[in-house]
Amino acid sequence: MVEKTAFSGFYKLPLEARQRLITEKIGLLPNELNTLNKFCHLSAAEMDKMGENVIGTYDLPFSIATHFRINGHEILIPMVTEEASVVAAASNGARIARPHGGFSADPISPIMIGQIQISRIQNEEEIESITKYIAINKHSLLNLANQCDPKLCNAGGGAYELICKPLKTSRGLMVILELYVNVVDAMGGNAVNSMAEAVGNYLKGQVPGVILLRILSNLVTTRLAHATAIFDKDLLGGSTIVEDILDAWAFAASDPYRAATHNKGILNGISALTIATGNDTRAIEAGAHAYAAQLGKNGTGYAPLTQFNKTMDGHLMGQITLPMALGIVGGITTKHPMSQIALKILGVKSASELGQIAAALGLAQNLAALRAMVSEGIQMGHMKLHKRKM
Ligand code: MEV
Repeated sequence: MVEKTAFSGFYKLPLEARQRLITEKIGLLPNELNTLNKFCHLSAAEMDKMGENVIGTYDLPFSIATHFRINGHEILIPMVTEEASVVAAASNGARIARPHGGFSADPISPIMIGQIQISRIQNEEEIESITKYIAINKHSLLNLANQCDPKLCNAGGGAYELICKPLKTSRGLMVILELYVNVVDAMGGNAVNSMAEAVGNYLKGQVPGVILLRILSNLVTTRLAHATAIFDKDLLGGSTIVEDILDAWAFAASDPYRAATHNKGILNGISALTIATGNDTRAIEAGAHAYAAQLGKNGTGYAPLTQFNKTMDGHLMGQITLPMALGIVGGITTKHPMSQIALKILGVKSASELGQIAAALGLAQNLAALRAMVSEGIQMGHMKLHKRKM
C-alpha cells in the first residue's frame, strides 16, 4: 500500500489549486503568490501543458552574443544564462577571431543511435542466433521503426541501419541492438525512443534473452560538431599571452580536475544557446562529458574538448569537437515563442547550422575564459562587469 500524502494526486489538480496548496504548506506571502502568477511568454494554461506539477515559470536573461563570424556569415547568438560574464566573454572571444576570418565549422550529420538491450544471453550460440535473426529481418524491423514517424521519413530521415553489439557485463552476456536514425532537423530524442521501443517490443519472444532498455544514447559520436578559428595574437594581448594560454590548455590536457572546469566553461556558452533555442541541455552536457571521457581514455580519463596550437606567425589556433544533438523542430523549439525568436535571430535553416554555431560559441567561450584566467583573472572581469552594470 503506497502511503498517501498531502501531495498525492498533486499532478491532477488545476494549476491554481497547486499554487494554493504550496502557498498553504510553505506559507508563501501574497506578493510571492503574485510573483508565481507572472506568466509572461505563454499563458498559465499553455505552461501547464508544457510541464508537470507546474506552479509558475522562471525568467532568466535572454542575451545576445555579438561579433561572431561563422563560415563567412555574421551571426548573432541568443544566450539564456544567469552568468553575465559568459555573454561578454563569448563576444570577446568572437572579436579576437575576426581578423583571421572568424570561425569555420563543418556540416554535422544528423544521426542518432537508439539502443535496445537484450540481457540474460546464455551463450555464444544465442548471440549468433540474434545476429542471424537481425540480418534476415533487418528490412522489416527498419520499416517497423519508420512507421513510428512518417513525418520524419517524409522529411528525408528515418531509421536506416540496425546492428548487433555483443557486450560482456558484470551481469553476464548481453546483446545491444543499435538502431541508426537520421533525425534531419530534430534533436531526435522522441523519434529515436519511439522507434527503439517499437522494435524492442516486437522482438520480445522472437529472439533469445530478455528485452530491457530501449532508449537513445547521448554519446552521439555520429553527430559530431567541429569548429576552428585563429585568434589574433595582438588582440589576445601579445605572444606571452599566447604561450600562457597554451600552458593553460596543457594543464587541462594533463589533469582531469582542470579539464572538468575547462569543459564547464565551454558548456557555459553551448548550454546557454541550448536553452535559448528550446533544446535539451542535459543531453548536450551528457554527450560532451561522455565524449571528453572517450577522448581521454588513453590518458587521464577525461580530456578537454578543445585543442590549441600556435600558427607559424604566432597566432593561436583553436579547435573544438563534441557531440551536438540540437534540433530546430520538435519539442519546445517550435512551441516556445522565445525559442522561435532565438532561431529567427540566428537565421539558421537546419539543425546542422545550429550545431555549427554552438561549436563556434563553445570555442570562443573557452578561449575567452583561458585568456581572462592567464591575465587579469576571472574575478577581475566579473567585478568590472558588475561595476559597469551598477
Ligand atoms: C566559470 O563559469 C567558467 C570557468 O571556470 C571556465 C574555466 O575555468 O575554463 C572560468
